[in-house]
Amino acid sequence: MSHLIAPSMLACDFSNLKSQVDMINQSEADWLHLDVMDGIFVPNISFGIPIIESISKLTDKPLDVHLMIEKPDRYIKNFKQAGANILTVHLEACTHLHRTLDTIKKEGMKAGVAINPHTSVNNLFDVLKNVDLICIMSVNPGFGGQFFIENTYNKIKKLISLRKETESDFLIEIDGGVNLKNASKLITEGVDILVAGNTVFKSNDPKQTIKSLKTI
Ligand code: DX5
Ligand code: ZN
Repeated sequence: MSHLIAPSMLACDFSNLKSQVDMINQSEADWLHLDVMDGIFVPNISFGIPIIESISKLTDKPLDVHLMIEKPDRYIKNFKQAGANILTVHLEACTHLHRTLDTIKKEGMKAGVAINPHTSVNNLFDVLKNVDLICIMSVNPGFGGQFFIENTYNKIKKLISLRKETESDFLIEIDGGVNLKNASKLITEGVDILVAGNTVFKSNDPKQTIKSLKTI
């Protein structure tokens, strides 16, 4: 499979949301990455269910919803109804992760788990067969535009070897500080999905930037 690009709408111009989604529609982007923050799990508040519902009406591309919220179980159905296709929860925010993943799948979505920079990939060992996607955070979640944490490369290597060892087939997503310089190394290391916010939306030609990330 060639790698996927998921622009993070957190960095888009929300005063022109429709034209921003149209740009993504016309681009080579594969998914739209949507960051939901509750001000408790992370020190920032972004957007929630109504915005996702609006975006869903404007695109046919899959919505990759990244929940940075405490106790996400409370809202799984709501995100499904809003149009989420992939729903990713944080390992650090789930007491009963196995059940949460199960519920996401029962609702008909792909189930993802994200881990913070301080969390070892080994902590995911017992759910590797239950996940469709693992998102390794390459910045501390909460804000766009931060610097990529280099230890991410070690985590990618470990996770790929765990995937092989357990004969699992989840996708590996990298989120935070992805740019045109580190993207090719990430792809060479075996990453499946690159999330990019500022690199795409703050560039002079976002569509071309998506193409560059896609054709790396
Ligand atoms: C960070 C979010 C990221 C963020 C990425 O908490 O999960 O998805 O939008 O933004 P960039 O690519 O600008 O680091
Ligand atoms: Zn994200």
